[in-house]
Parts: sequence; structure tokens; C-alpha cells
Amino acid sequence: MRALRENFLWGGATAANQFEGAWDVDGKGPSVSDMCTNGTNKISKKITTKIEKDTFYPSHDAIDFYHHYKEDIKLFAEMGFKVFRFSIAWTRIFPTGMEEKPNDAGLKFYENVVDECKKYNIEPLITISHYEMPYALVEKYNGWYGRECIECFERFSKAVLDRLAGKVKYFLTFNEINAGTMPMGNVLSLGTIKGYSGPISEIKDNPQIRFQALHHQFVASAKTVKYAHEHFPEVKIGNMICFITMYPYTCNPTDILMAQKEMQMKNYFCSDVQVRGYYPAYADRYFEENNIIIKKEADDDKILKEGTVDFYTFSYYMSNCIGEVNDVKKTGGNIGLGYKNPYLKESEWGWQIDPKGLRYTLNEIYDRYQIPVMIVENGLGAKDKLEEDGSIHDAYRIDYLRSHIEQMIEAVKDGVDLMGYTPWGCIDLISASTGEMAKRYGFIYVDKYDDGTGDLSRRKKDSFEWYKKVIESNGSIL
Ligand code: BG6
Repeated sequence: MRALRENFLWGGATAANQFEGAWDVDGKGPSVSDMCTNGTNKISKKITTKIEKDTFYPSHDAIDFYHHYKEDIKLFAEMGFKVFRFSIAWTRIFPTGMEEKPNDAGLKFYENVVDECKKYNIEPLITISHYEMPYALVEKYNGWYGRECIECFERFSKAVLDRLAGKVKYFLTFNEINAGTMPMGNVLSLGTIKGYSGPISEIKDNPQIRFQALHHQFVASAKTVKYAHEHFPEVKIGNMICFITMYPYTCNPTDILMAQKEMQMKNYFCSDVQVRGYYPAYADRYFEENNIIIKKEADDDKILKEGTVDFYTFSYYMSNCIGEVNDVKKTGGNIGLGYKNPYLKESEWGWQIDPKGLRYTLNEIYDRYQIPVMIVENGLGAKDKLEEDGSIHDAYRIDYLRSHIEQMIEAVKDGVDLMGYTPWGCIDLISASTGEMAKRYGFIYVDKYDDGTGDLSRRKKDSFEWYKKVIESNGSIL
């Protein structure tokens, strides 16, 4: 029976816009995330077209990793991290996305972060773009709907690779690229919201625009992979999917088919393109039935073929149900929703907790693609209580992670070639869906609150020592 690789990549994951802060420091321009206010589980966050004077924008200061990176990486090293996933803020390198030359101060910052990781033998895993398109590209081109963004992204990704590929082995192109298959993708992922100001939940969706924009992302991603392979043969470059496992609500064949269709277009479509190098046949019918016509340029299919990824990565938080049902409640979720599963519990934010679903999902993915797989996000967003003595007892988080790691190890025994595991928000950070600070994922507590107050001090939660033991024992002590 297989076991976890000896050099299994245990670590944690973050994203620039959710933890760096310093949103306008050292030449950085505003990204689409910088235009977003905070919300809650019930109240949608808003996007504004201008920075409003008395409005609170959580990404602007976040937890200020920009000025705390040495302290934070030291804590990750203390937990024994082998890998640290972070992203590059595109607007630190190209403030509007349209400059010809990169901003050196931005590149220098990431080089410092990489060097700090290397000091502790932590392997950086860099997401080139994680929900942080330059807002100027939204205004000028309606985000990724404009084909011009491919060239802008190429300049950005080349600048990142040229500067960092000598020191970094693992890169991902776009975080959760399949967000573009769902209306939620319009905002943070595609930026197809030119001129829109208001609640994110009320954005008018146009699937034709959305899928055309997604096509441009595919081409940009493939060009980046191709460039990396040609210039830095030692670099491995992956895709990244938000995997929301869909179960049929009943064994009614109608439900089974609905679940299959949902799995195809929401979970597999993007990775079929990025791993296999061409649009899958089932997409033709979907496009025809939804009156979507993808405009491709002559070389696009060739580029997709030449730019296939080396490994597959995904986020996993929950599963959902789908079927022909009445009177069944809807679930919460990051970018996709479904029906509640009577066998599962859920988090305070309504995300269904399904560790066995992780084993099932890993098997499905590996059977389909047969390339190394990595779980680059997983975790429980919860409200933590800071005790008077400064401790934080987060047994619920340990339970969540333990049960998922157990199932992950079962999947490896099933035969899945798993490279690593980086739980989300290894240090508390801003929530992507709600902009809250109260929805915490970290092993490290940050003194920062939803009203922007807090002294930014860092404290270890109970889960910190627990995860340290898990890593030390390569998953045998859970
Ligand atoms: C994923 C994103 O969808 O889920 C992260 O890649 C995000 O950016 C994570 O933070 C958790 O979602 P949330 O909304 O709880 O922050």
C-alpha cells in the first residue's frame, strides 16, 4: 500500500490581497480586491468604482504581512513548514497592468519573501495571480473580456518568472480559474464588471462575456506555462481549481445526470483544458444550449496544446448536492452553491463539512488526469475566542483538519500521487467571500478585527502545536 511521500510538502496557503496590506505602498496600484468593502455571511460585500473616503476596505491594511513577513515566516518555520503558498500582487509589479516595465520595488519585496523562506528551507509555492487583477484593466478592457489582457498578463508573468524562477520551483498560474464558470467569477477572477458599483450579489451576469473572458485566461495561462518550460526547465507549473464536489441528491437518474453535468462544467472544464490541452467535447453542447460563442484566434488551440500544466492543484472546503428537489435548503459556499446534504454538518458560514468527500475527490481527479496532485487549500473558517491569558483553544479547527488529513492519507493509500497539503489561511487573514476578519482559518491568531482595529500582534493557537506534530511525524500523529 502506498504512503505519503517522504518529502511530502506540508505547509500553509495565503493570498496577497488578503494578508499583505500596504495596498498603495512602494508604487503599488489598486487591484479589483482593493475596491471591495467588507460584508458578512448575510450582507454582500460591495465593489466601488472609486476609493470612497469614509468607506472601509479590508485589503488596504489586512494583517500587514508586507511589514511582518520575517516574523510570520519564522513562525511557519517553527511549525516545520516545508512549503509556503503565497501570491504575487499584480499591481505591485505593474500598477495599472499596462506599463511596459515592471516596478522593481514590487519584485524586490517578493524576492525578499522568497529569500526568507529559503533561509528556513521552506519551498515557496507561488500563485502568479490570486484574485487581484489591476483595477485599471477593469476600467479599460472590462477585465479579462478584453483580449489585450493576455499580453498584459504575459508581461507580468514573465517578469515574475525571470526574477524568481532561479530560486522557486513551484508556480501556479491562476487561483481557482473555474470561478469563471460561475457568476461569482465576474468580480475577483475575471474583472468583467466595468463601471459597476454596488453589492457583489447583484451583479448582472452575462455568460457570453464570462466564458470569452475565461478563454483569454486559458490562453494567458498556457502562454505562461510554455514560457516557463522553455526558459526554466527545472520549474514545475500547475493549475488551480476550486473543487466543489457535487453529489446527486437522490439515486434518481435525473439527479445523477444533473450532478454529472455540474461536475463537468464547474469542476472539470477548466482543468480538462489546462491538463489535456483542448476544450472537452461536452462543453460544445453547453455552449450551444446557452448561446455562447467563443471567439478564438488562429493560434489559440495550438497554444492551449503547448501549455499544459505539470501538476494539478485544488482547494477543497465542502461538497454540495444537486437534483430535482423541492423544499430542500440551499448551502453556503465560496463560489458555488447547492442543496444541503442531510448527512453532513456545516460551518457557521453554512459550508458543509465532508472529509470523506476529499478522499472521493482526490480519487476522481487522479483517475482522470494521472499527474501529481496537490491540495493547496482546505480549512475551517471559524470565530475564535481570545482568552484573557492570550491563548486560543481551537479544538474545532483541529478536528476539521484531522478528519481531512485522515481521508487524504486514505486517498494516498488508494493510489493517488499527492505532492503536498497547504491548509488555507495558515495565519488569520481577510475572508475572500465576505471581507471579514472574524472568519479565521489560521494556526496563528492576528489581533485585527472587522472594524479595522487591532495591534496586529501574532499569537499561537492550540492548532499551532498540533500541526507542528503532524508535520514532524509526516502525518502519523494526528
Ligand atoms: C478560496 C479562495 O475560494 O477560498 C481563497 O481561493 C479564500 O482566496 C478561501 O479565502 C476561503 O474562502 P473565504 O471566503 O472563507 O475567505
